[in-house]
Amino acid sequence: MKKYIIKTYGCQMNIHDSEKIAGMLETLGYSETSDPKIADVVVFNTCCIRDGVEQKISAHIGAFKNIKKNKPSQIIIVCGCFSQEKDKAKLLKSKFPFIDIIVGTHNIHEIKNMLVKYLEDKKKTIDVWESEKGIFENLDILRTSGKNAWVNISYGCNNFCSYCIVPYVRGRERSRSIDDIIKEVENLVRSGYKFITLLGQNVNSYGNDLSDENINFANLLKELCKIEGEFRIKFLTSHPKDLTSELIDVIANNEKISKAIHLPVQSGSNEILRVMNRKYTREKYMAVIDEIKTKIPTAALTTDIIVGFPGETEEDFQDTLDLVKYVKYESLFAFMYSIRTGTVAASMTNQVDENIKNVRVNEVLKLAKKISKENHKNMVGSIFEAFVEDISSDGKGKAILDSGKNIELNAVNLTSDMINTFVKVKIVSFNNNKFIGEVVL
Ligand code: 5AD
Ligand code: SF4
Repeated sequence: MKKYIIKTYGCQMNIHDSEKIAGMLETLGYSETSDPKIADVVVFNTCCIRDGVEQKISAHIGAFKNIKKNKPSQIIIVCGCFSQEKDKAKLLKSKFPFIDIIVGTHNIHEIKNMLVKYLEDKKKTIDVWESEKGIFENLDILRTSGKNAWVNISYGCNNFCSYCIVPYVRGRERSRSIDDIIKEVENLVRSGYKFITLLGQNVNSYGNDLSDENINFANLLKELCKIEGEFRIKFLTSHPKDLTSELIDVIANNEKISKAIHLPVQSGSNEILRVMNRKYTREKYMAVIDEIKTKIPTAALTTDIIVGFPGETEEDFQDTLDLVKYVKYESLFAFMYSIRTGTVAASMTNQVDENIKNVRVNEVLKLAKKISKENHKNMVGSIFEAFVEDISSDGKGKAILDSGKNIELNAVNLTSDMINTFVKVKIVSFNNNKFIGEVVL
């Protein structure tokens, strides 16, 4: 049987795109292998969000020069954000002439046909569309994320944050039709998926481009909550400027919606937020956080932070640390600013020294770790929702908290029919990075 391997880089959007690519390859009779040496088809589904990831991808592709020498029939496909970036397809072709097919982000659905054609004529192809052309439905998807199913609700981004390459490689925002989303989620719930994670670069602006003015993210969530069955809806990623009170109420008042909210702040400094073109102030962000905490006491808040954005002073950076202390995030991702050619920030002249970025990123991460530990200690005694994955022969249970953290359940009150269901759990201890809890009835 013919084998394939897909190497995925970057965000959840790419993880889900790879499920679509896997679906196409399986319909052509390929099956997955983890061994690159025997793979007949190798797909690199790439990312370009920061320079580091581009370097890593280049090194990984480069390693296939020798692997392919020993298996000359191996077909190498490169797709995704790196190949969509301006001039990168040409660069890839010249640097790695052994690549057979290069596709951008807008036409990954064509990989199947391109591969069939390649098998016939063995002609190397580059097909990167300049811009997006609508939405392609009804793709075969091979889901690979266990009980979780990813569901696109929108593609692309209109925000143009000044550091970000995404709008250039993923195009303008396009929302899927609400009926298509509901149909997909209904089928997934019927097939037994317990978590549905809605995906968009900015899920909160879902529907802005649709003709029906009544369709927005809050209404989409309300409609999805009407679907029968026991499941939870998650979503990525929210933008603070579009997270409305109406939406917070919908999250607070619906059991089916996860209380894990990823709300990238990027910086705690008003001046940096302004030049980042984020369209909110730290005060506005903190007000949103206050409202979430008041209405959803069990909310698990996470964020993304960029340190060393052009012009970031020590004072700006202290504002970021202060904000992290204020919000007390469950966890966070912190990145050193990386110049992305073509973005507005790339041409700013006041770039920050790499050493300073390095010091700052470590400082944020250290603070985040300390806060996270304190948060976890403070959770002891409180009740949270958890999904029971397994109950072992000694009667103990393994579950995941809504925040995504693992928890071991004491035998007390556990029954085997709880496996695969959501239960309320009282946290009884947090030691050595491990939660222990008891199911409360
Ligand atoms: N440099 C560093 N981090 C970046 N991100 C996006 N663009 C850049 C960049 N040029 C980060 C942001 C975003 C996350 C997905 O990646 O924090 O939220
Ligand atoms: Fe990039 Fe900003 Fe769009 Fe997020 S909202 S994808 S950070 S431009």
